[in-house]
Amino acid sequence: MHAQGSARIRAARSDDLNAIERLEMAAFTHDQLPRDSLRYYIGAPTVVLLVAECDDVVCGYALVAFHRRSIVARLYSIAVAAAYGGRGIGRELMAACEAAARLRDAHWLRLEVRPDNEAAIQLYGRLGYREFARIEEFYEDGTDALRFEKPLTAEALTRPRPRPTRF
Ligand SMILES: CC(C)(COP(=O)(O)OP(=O)(O)OC[C@H]1O[C@@H](n2cnc3c(N)ncnc32)[C@H](O)[C@@H]1OP(=O)(O)O)[C@@H](O)C(=O)NCCC(=O)NCCS
Repeated sequence: MHAQGSARIRAARSDDLNAIERLEMAAFTHDQLPRDSLRYYIGAPTVVLLVAECDDVVCGYALVAFHRRSIVARLYSIAVAAAYGGRGIGRELMAACEAAARLRDAHWLRLEVRPDNEAAIQLYGRLGYREFARIEEFYEDGTDALRFEKPLTAEALTRPRPRPTRF
């Protein structure tokens, strides 16, 4: 059994590509990020790609994207290996994504999730995300997406909410 907080979160390196791709293929049956995209995202300037290491193996990853001049960062993807699920690694990755977003001067983090993804919806709810929109037929198979958001800074709450843009 792993204690909570046992993962080490760090920036992805090029030699993590195979592990990240395996996580992606295992975690998602639709809308998988292709290997070439994952390769591009490692060290790309407009994203932060993080991995969680448990027992010296990559057991999770998360990808946050930034848009120039936008105070909204977007969680593109997060996955934890099934064997390591329920041990707080998803929480740790989310906290690291939020910290990375604040460092890039983002005041909000937004994300999309399938309505039937109970584990992810629970995770986001526990961490203070709230649903603010639904996008019809967002995913490749025609499933809608729920959009969630969280203010990351005190300043976010003193300004008007950023408009929900369609990606
Ligand atoms: C969603 C996911 C990242 C959660 O990772 P995790 O490391 O298991 O999550 P944690 O252990 O940090 O759990 C944090 C919270 O998530 C929720 N959660 C995690 N697994 C859950 C499950 N199977 N069922 C219900 N809630 C769950 C719980 O609310 C939990 O909080 P609690 O421990 O206080 O009850 C993981 O299940 C996963 O990779 N899923 C497949 C990929 C995916 O769907 N990604 C999200 C796409 S939008």
